[in-house]
Amino acid sequence: MEVQCVSVPARDAERARRLLAGSGLLVKGLKLVRAGSRVLIPVGDGEKAVSVLSREGIEAEVCTSEFPRYRRPSRLSTPVKSYSVYGDVAVFSYTAGIPLEDYVRAARILVEEHGYRAVYLKVGTEGPYRLPSLRLLWGQPGTEVTIKEYGLRIMLDISKAYYNVRLAGERRSVSESVNDGERVLDMFAGVGPFSLHIASLRRASVVAVDINPYAVYYMIANIKLNSRRLKGCITPVRGDSSRLSKILKPVFNRIIMNNPTMTPQFLGEACGISVKNAVIHYYRLHGSCEGAIKEALHEAPSWCGLQVDGCREVLEHSPTKRIYRIDLRRV
Ligand SMILES: C[S@@+](CC[C@H](N)C(=O)[O-])C[C@H]1O[C@@H](n2cnc3c(N)ncnc32)[C@H](O)[C@@H]1O
Repeated sequence: MEVQCVSVPARDAERARRLLAGSGLLVKGLKLVRAGSRVLIPVGDGEKAVSVLSREGIEAEVCTSEFPRYRRPSRLSTPVKSYSVYGDVAVFSYTAGIPLEDYVRAARILVEEHGYRAVYLKVGTEGPYRLPSLRLLWGQPGTEVTIKEYGLRIMLDISKAYYNVRLAGERRSVSESVNDGERVLDMFAGVGPFSLHIASLRRASVVAVDINPYAVYYMIANIKLNSRRLKGCITPVRGDSSRLSKILKPVFNRIIMNNPTMTPQFLGEACGISVKNAVIHYYRLHGSCEGAIKEALHEAPSWCGLQVDGCREVLEHSPTKRIYRIDLRRV
């Protein structure tokens, strides 16, 4: 059956396909067709597609053609079934003992049949910025992605700034506990997801700090990208959170300490810039809630009165360790 399409130069085909997919004009489930130096892309409305592409500097013409259907994508076989999705990029976490060929085979299926742009293998997490070490398995190289989280758009380079897709629900739940008018400090903000959730839900004032310049670069981009959705305001700061009491007054009603491998050493600083009754969401990688609470209370300076309002498991990290959130209150 003939379908409406646009014909574009082959060199622009992938960018055009993504733009058309993003604007809802691409007809899904059909393979693109090569016609000499051009590629035909099936679309719902040819005229609209041409105008979307010409705005982005891509020369396009309306056409009609037959398009072969994609067959149903193959399923991945165990043991490489699970992967994280960052926009149009998928990432496997390396598990010792699984041969590299198994990952490559699965990556090829994800690119060629499931439509991912690229698939990477994460072989570790490095340094204070918590960056993944990534190896390209299949597809087009490129680690800048845009992710949708509860309607917010979050852009980042996954090789240059930390982001964990599995924390979306946690970010939402913390943000829902914030009230209008609060002064919030996001002490390890990364590319800003906690801050964006809070400012999209509440008329709060958020200071978002990260030491990684790339994370702050994307945080600023994300504030712009979501500006229409934000009721509250976010002030991005590139800085070291171990020195905040030197530049910030003790005004914060709520502090988010989402850096589970390093939080104890920053607790004194959080105490120093929070007001009485402030809530501190203290994330910690540990073997148990009880152990993490004991450690936190031991690390807090003696002048900083803290009450424990609750502790919950947020994520499983390894067979013996979990990430916990302890809600501490300044008393
Ligand atoms: C686990 S990530 C959390 C990111 C963010 N909250 C999120 O949910 O995506 C920890 C972040 O702390 C930042 N970081 C590490 N040391 C820091 C410091 N001394 N001061 C400020 N930020 C720091 C890292 O760059 C990283 O972005």
